[in-house]
Amino acid sequence: MYVCVCNAVTERHIGKAVENGASTLRDLRQQLGVAGECGRCATCARDCLRNALAERAQTPAPAGLFSTLSLAAEAA
Ligand code: FES
Repeated sequence: MYVCVCNAVTERHIGKAVENGASTLRDLRQQLGVAGECGRCATCARDCLRNALAERAQTPAPAGLFSTLSLAAEAA
C-alpha cells in the first residue's frame, strides 16, 4: 500500500528503512522524503513506522550476528 503518494513510498519501503536503522519520522523524511511535501502522510507513516519497529523487535537476531556477538563476548 502506498503511504506517501507524493514520493511513491510504500509500507515495504518503510520496512526496509527500519531494517537500515530508521526509527523516527524524521529518519523516514531524510531517507525517503516521507511527509516532506504535502505532509498528509505523516500520521499513516508514523503508524507504519511503529508497526515496522514492533515487528523488528519481535524478530530474533540473525544467526550470523549472534555468532559474531558470542565470539566477541568470549574474546573479551
Ligand atoms: S503524501 Fe507524503 S508528502 Fe504528500
